[in-house]
Amino acid sequence: VEAALRDGPLKGKRILITSGPTHEPIDPVRYIANRSSGAQGTAIANALAALGADVVFVTGPADAARPRGVEIVEVQSAREMLEAVETALPADAAVFAAAVADWRVASASDSKIKKDGMGKLPVLEFAENPDILATVSQMKAGRPGLVVGFAAETDDVVAHATAKRERKQCDWIVANDVSPETGIMGGSENQVVVISDQGAEAWPRMGKDQVAKRLAAEISTALQE
Ligand code: CTP
Ligand code: CA
Repeated sequence: VEAALRDGPLKGKRILITSGPTHEPIDPVRYIANRSSGAQGTAIANALAALGADVVFVTGPADAARPRGVEIVEVQSAREMLEAVETALPADAAVFAAAVADWRVASASDSKIKKDGMGKLPVLEFAENPDILATVSQMKAGRPGLVVGFAAETDDVVAHATAKRERKQCDWIVANDVSPETGIMGGSENQVVVISDQGAEAWPRMGKDQVAKRLAAEISTALQE
């Protein structure tokens, strides 16, 4: 069902979501990337669309099935993702669920890098990618009214995520503990702490679809205020 035909509390609201990994080319056949199934971002897109929002879903190359009833923009690299986000704005809210590669290869090779047969190893030089969430959070004009970031952390999740929220200047950070022993990376469940100017709120462990529904409901409430 087209969003424009759906009724719901988010009818008429335009919401941008980034999701999935980015791929940063080394050469035409190789890349570096973060691990990301795209499952959480996809679930959020579906949940927001179900509340009637006009969703623009900017996704890197993710395994997860694409959300339904939303506008989909497919990208590969972080720089392409930033460009797609800037093109998709303005929006009432933006949710940055993508696992963006922090670095790209400074000068990707146009031709396949070959083994030289003598065991000489290639040396890759990196350049830092633009921070899409920070760029949008700090926009002087046309900033979405609500900007939501994610933070996949290990160790002191709340402290890292609180610092991240302040550094990037987004409104909310949805933080989770991705230490291997939690089993959250690649799984169907998530356990998040939502950090806002009201402090840190720990949600119980639940399915990624449930996290998405609750987040969509809270976004809806925030946009009505
Ligand atoms: N993010 C982004 N662009 C980047 C890096 C991250 O938009 N180049 C967004 C992610 O989508 C997420 C949030 O920023 O919403 C936090 O990502 P994270 O990787 O946890 O933050 P970093 O600042 O890259 O810090 P870290 O050193 O922990 O990776
Ligand atoms: Ca990062």
